[in-house]
Amino acid sequence: MAILEVLTIPDPRLKQESQPVERFDSSLRDFIHDLEQTMRSSPGGVGIAAPQVARFERIIIVDVSRKPKIQSHGRLVLINPEILEWQGMEKGREGCMSVPDYTGNVIRAKTIKINAYDESGQMRSYDCEGYEARAIQHEVDHLDGVLFLDRLVSRRTDLFQRKVYSEKSVAKSD
Ligand code: NI
Repeated sequence: MAILEVLTIPDPRLKQESQPVERFDSSLRDFIHDLEQTMRSSPGGVGIAAPQVARFERIIIVDVSRKPKIQSHGRLVLINPEILEWQGMEKGREGCMSVPDYTGNVIRAKTIKINAYDESGQMRSYDCEGYEARAIQHEVDHLDGVLFLDRLVSRRTDLFQRKVYSEKSVAKSD
């Protein structure tokens, strides 16, 4: 088990496109374990994508169940995810472990339908809404080298500096 190093802007590797997973083996599951631990090491961490730790494969983890009053599927490991349907639009605030100093308002679909493989290579389907749907859309973007910063309508009105903490590590994990 390990907490992996998270790439942060302006690292150009965050713009890299990730490739589909082809082998569902124990090394994949070991990596997913470390990826999840890295996500959970961040107090507000509700999602992470493999390319954020420089593994350019289409793997994301989302778990918004620790947020109060939010409907969710709990812990989701989504491998080679495909968003099949988008409905509605909603503006909401997002943060990212790779963008430690800012949050931003981004417009996302309210509900999505998604297909993805789980860790054992089983294809699954999910209907997600609200905050969980937002988190998934944010993480799927990472697989295509897209950050929430790329989706701001206006940097002037939709980008917010985070509070300054005394320790860089604390700021990073908020
Ligand atoms: Ni992110």
